[in-house]
Amino acid sequence: MDFQLSEEHIAVRDAARDFAQNVLKPGVIERDEKQQFPTEEIKQLGELGFMGMMVDPKYGGGGMDTISYVLAMEEISKVDASTSVVMSVNNSLVCWGIEKYGTEEQKQKYLRPLATGEKIGAFCLSEPEAGSDATSQRTTAIDKGDYYLLNGTKNWITNGGSASYYIVIAQTDVEKGHKGINAFIVDKEWEGFTVGAKENKMGIRASDTHTLMFTDVKVPKENRIGEDGFGFSFAMKVLSGGRIGIASQALGIASGAMELAIAYSKERAAFGKPISQHQAIAFKLADMATTVEASRLLCLKAAWLKDQGLNFDKESAMAKVFASKTAMDVATEAVQVHGGYGFVKEYHVERLMRDAKITQIYEGTTEVQKIVISRSILR
Ligand code: CAA
Ligand code: FAD
Repeated sequence: MDFQLSEEHIAVRDAARDFAQNVLKPGVIERDEKQQFPTEEIKQLGELGFMGMMVDPKYGGGGMDTISYVLAMEEISKVDASTSVVMSVNNSLVCWGIEKYGTEEQKQKYLRPLATGEKIGAFCLSEPEAGSDATSQRTTAIDKGDYYLLNGTKNWITNGGSASYYIVIAQTDVEKGHKGINAFIVDKEWEGFTVGAKENKMGIRASDTHTLMFTDVKVPKENRIGEDGFGFSFAMKVLSGGRIGIASQALGIASGAMELAIAYSKERAAFGKPISQHQAIAFKLADMATTVEASRLLCLKAAWLKDQGLNFDKESAMAKVFASKTAMDVATEAVQVHGGYGFVKEYHVERLMRDAKITQIYEGTTEVQKIVISRSILR
């Protein structure tokens, strides 16, 4: 067992930290306020190799491991969780899914531009009637010989407006239930694909979340991912990896809020001494440091298991449950440590508190993670 990061891991973490502090931080408040997608910043993340971090370099990726991904996600999320969710969806839901289960033709055509950040991807599972209950897919893809006819509505789709390629989960055979579900790669330019209005959100406001409508979209057979009926397993496998990304996002929000709280508590004086010298504040910081460290260890353990080729479904769910609760707790307490200043935008902690909440909802709510964990330990 080795708790030391390698030189390569430190280099990735430092590159992500520099980018977050120097490129993302200056505009983060304005992008949040204006709900402005970080177009230029995402382009630069692509140039750094961070949009397809774990993809083989032969497909234009960064060739890094999942530990590197956790480290980078933490640093980017400390500053800008809107940008990190774009990065997370592209890396772990879209690129990883295509690289692991796609055909060579799909990899050449779609993975390469996604891995370099030239194009952005989206992952479309949720529907108005199928959120946590993900097998209740209403979107249909009817086999018409050499193509499928896709009809239905997906909602809450991250990168909904800015993506070029979408992995869409749809029911191909209702009789077969979850065994009659498939995953398809869909191009935004295809006829019948409509992007609906952008959601006006509490947090991660600079990311774009949209409803998508599909009306008689012709999806070529070769755009199905995997064998017929593999779609639901595909979604679950991809989400297991995605949950490491979102857990790391939550870890970053928590550690970012903690760092701000520590710095502020040393500067702000009350009753003749820095507030950090009041035990009530110092103990809050101690609790933050403990839960942030525990979250980091859970994220790294899940990432390590994935890198070893071992099963990590339970561990990624545990990391997400714990880190997302930590993000909520730490960000809320960081606002408290800042007093009134914590309630205004320029001190950053109010945004981190708003951004923290979504980590308990998307890529499977806390309750869904507990379903995954409890089924695993009771099996
Ligand atoms: N790997 C492979 N297969 C899996 C699996 C996994 N990790 N988990 C389940 N399956 C398989 C099961 O084995 C089963 O197949 P068999 O019958 O052949 O054995 C099939 O999938 C159905 O599984 P369940 O019976 O467990 O299904 P369920 O209806 O009880 O639901 C659930 C399980 C865990 C609640 C699942 O529906 C779920 O994860 N829901 C949440 C959906 C979700 O996370 N959505 C996120 C959308 S993406 C997103 O949110 C992105 C973003 O914000 C940025
Ligand atoms: P519901 O499933 O209706 O759940 C409502 C409540 O009931 C929750 O508290 C839930 O935990 C609880 N609940 C439900 N079933 C159970 C149960 N069996 N036991 C105990 N409690 C239960 N989806 C995508 O496919 N792609 C995306 O890119 C994407 N991005 C998103 C971005 C944002 C900003 C948001 C808000 C959502 C996004 N989602 C995305 C959707 C997200 O994954 C779903 O919102 C989430 O899975 C929950 O589904 P729901 O909203 O339908 O809630």
